[in-house]
This record gives sequence, structure tokens and C-alpha cells, in this order.
Amino acid sequence: MFAASCFPRYQFEKSGLSILAVDRKSDGQFVGRVGLWPLPERNEIELDYAIAKPFWRLGYATEASAECVDRGFREQRIGKIVGLVVPGNHGSVRVLRKLGFEFIRADHMYDMDVLYHRLDKQRWFARTFTLDSPSIERRRS
Ligand SMILES: CC(C)(COP(=O)(O)OP(=O)(O)OC[C@H]1O[C@@H](n2cnc3c(N)ncnc32)[C@H](O)[C@@H]1OP(=O)(O)O)[C@@H](O)C(=O)NCCC(=O)NCCS
Repeated sequence: MFAASCFPRYQFEKSGLSILAVDRKSDGQFVGRVGLWPLPERNEIELDYAIAKPFWRLGYATEASAECVDRGFREQRIGKIVGLVVPGNHGSVRVLRKLGFEFIRADHMYDMDVLYHRLDKQRWFARTFTLDSPSIERRRS
């Protein structure tokens, strides 16, 4: 996977986090990636997602991210997850907002201006939508 290979492997091993491939349930078609990865310099965990262009706007990023966030809070006992978006990436902001992430501040990371969002565990468990993952499945990359 692109994201995994461009990030030092030992940091994933140390944190126990990983990037997952996202497959469509109906036919096994690979449609993108989703995962949680560490921001060691800030002691924070970031949600990462990308869907291949032919599969945009079908709800896959939201659905896969929701599952990933839920597992992070439930199984990996993470307290908060951050979302970093380049200004102008309206689709990505919309994904975060649908999941309940809140905009906190304009920030600068990875040598870029970013919009820093955050989702706390308490807010996630107080959400009003359910997780049924109707169309995709996940496998480890
Ligand atoms: C951003 C991205 C992940 C969205 O994936 P997706 O599977 O199309 O997202 P979803 O189908 O779950 O859509 C979620 C919401 O965003 C909206 N949306 C998606 N793309 C959008 C766009 N380009 N502009 C405005 N809204 C957009 C959808 O309409 C939906 O909102 P709605 O439910 O109110 O209609 C995808 O465009 C992508 O992979 N882009 C390149 C990589 C990237 O930017 N990753 C994020 C890094 S921070």
C-alpha cells in the first residue's frame, strides 16, 4: 500500500496501528484504503483515507472510516483521533463532519497548511447513526 510503504514501518509496529485495504463486498473490487496512523511528534493518532476516483461519492470513505474509527475507540482504546485536511478538500472535510469530527484550528503539518479536526471517544459513542457497513469489507494490507 502506498501509505504504509511511505511511513516508517517500525512506527506502525510500535503503535499496533495499520492501514487497511477497502474492498467492495459485492465483488471484492479494491476501492481504496483507510487506517489509523501515529503522529509521534504530537503523540496523536490520525485517520487516513483515500478512495480511487471511479468510486468517489458512493459513501465508501465514510463507511470505511466509520468502521475504522469505531475499532480504534473500541478495540485499541484510543481516546481521540485527529483528521487533517488541506484547505479546499471539501469532500474530505465532509467525511470528517459526517463522522462527528469537529474543526479545532488551522494548523501547519507535513510542511502544509491543514485544517485540524478532532473526534473524542465520548462524542463517537454518543453518535446517533449506526454502523452496518452494507457495501464494503476490509482486509489488512
Ligand atoms: C475525499 C475522499 C476520500 C471522499 O471519498 P468518497 O468515498 O467519495 O466520500 P463519500 O462518498 O463517503 O462522501 C462523503 C460526503 O462527502 C461528499 N463529497 C465527496 N466528495 C466531495 C467533493 N469533491 N466535494 C464536495 N463534497 C464531496 C459526499 O457527497 C458526501 O456527502 P453527503 O453524504 O452529504 O452527500 C475522496 O475524494 C478521495 O479519496 N480523495 C483523494 C484523497 C484524499 O483527499 N484523502 C483525504 C486526505 S485528508
